[in-house]
Amino acid sequence: MTNFRALTRRRAAAYNFVPTIVLQNAIVSQPSVESPSAASIATLTNQALKELDAVSDPDGAEQWRVSYLGRRGQITGVLRSIPQLDPDQRREVGAQANQAKNALEEALARRIRELAEAELAAAGALDVTLPGRPVITGRLHPTTQIVREICGAFIAMGFSVVEGPEVELDHYNFEMLNIPAGHPARDMWNSLWVDYVNEEGQQPMLLRTHTSPMQARVMEAQDPPVRVIVPGKCYRYEATDATHEWHFYQIEGLAVAEGITFANLKGTLYEFARRVFGPDRQIRFRCDYFPFVEPGVDMSISNFVDPATGKRPINRDEDWIEIMGAGMVHPRVLEGVGYDPQRYTGFAFGMGPERIGMLKYGIDDIRHFYRNDVRFLRQF
Ligand code: PHE
Repeated sequence: MTNFRALTRRRAAAYNFVPTIVLQNAIVSQPSVESPSAASIATLTNQALKELDAVSDPDGAEQWRVSYLGRRGQITGVLRSIPQLDPDQRREVGAQANQAKNALEEALARRIRELAEAELAAAGALDVTLPGRPVITGRLHPTTQIVREICGAFIAMGFSVVEGPEVELDHYNFEMLNIPAGHPARDMWNSLWVDYVNEEGQQPMLLRTHTSPMQARVMEAQDPPVRVIVPGKCYRYEATDATHEWHFYQIEGLAVAEGITFANLKGTLYEFARRVFGPDRQIRFRCDYFPFVEPGVDMSISNFVDPATGKRPINRDEDWIEIMGAGMVHPRVLEGVGYDPQRYTGFAFGMGPERIGMLKYGIDDIRHFYRNDVRFLRQF
């Protein structure tokens, strides 16, 4: 068996041998290296700078570097010999040698730049065909992208976009939506209340649990016909899982006018699904309960197994993923804002754009959206 240790030792010995010769050569040709002094360093530096001025091309610059700053270069030699000096000289000469080294390095960088510029000038012009350096830019957050896409689909159908406050009054978040204090339906929205008590001892403010409060705010502010969508952030006191976050976006929709029927609701939401998911993805309506609509439904999008990949867009063993609640605006809500429910009808819906993004792009966990992991964000 080969004795690697011995081999390595032999090799090391061979290597040691080589520098010894070089060192001797260096000592012979540059006696000043033997005991550097302030004066000899200054002389060496001047000589080096003069030679550098005479350098006329990159090869020359490299040779110069090797001869002064390289591993066996003269300045390096000076630095290496410092420990052998008398202690009282060591500090001063050492500092000077270091300064000299820095000065020479700077001079070299400058010279290389000058040579490059000169070369460019000699070539006659700037090469404007050279591709520019790309500017590193950020991009829109995937939620922002999907919110904009959804809004775009509704804008194309004649809706306008409004926004509302994230810190909302109980009055709008619940009461105007036919959910009075003490109503069990309040439990559908586990709320984050603002720690503020008014004179009557009530806690009137919360982080809005949905964008529906804007239904009442919009209708209070204008007469029918109304056709708006409301994108915005919502908050719930909720445990998180793959399809639930405690903060998320919603996009509310509201259309109120004379003669609006459930067929308009279905037609509008079908068209929305077609625009965002393409014509082939299936949607499903089921009856559901929300105090501010009657009748109420929820709408789901098929989470079908893609035959090409054998996977579902959302990796859960469910054929349908609920993306929104909807329904015909409850007459009490219309009354509350001073609209005549005999004359006007309307539909409302509220959807979760992150879930829509998940279905559209096959994102398996809603919590990715707010983890700020660039490996996720860069994909959009
Ligand atoms: N605001 C409801 C929710 O957050 C959704 C909804 C909006 C339902 C509009 C019906 C009409 O669950």
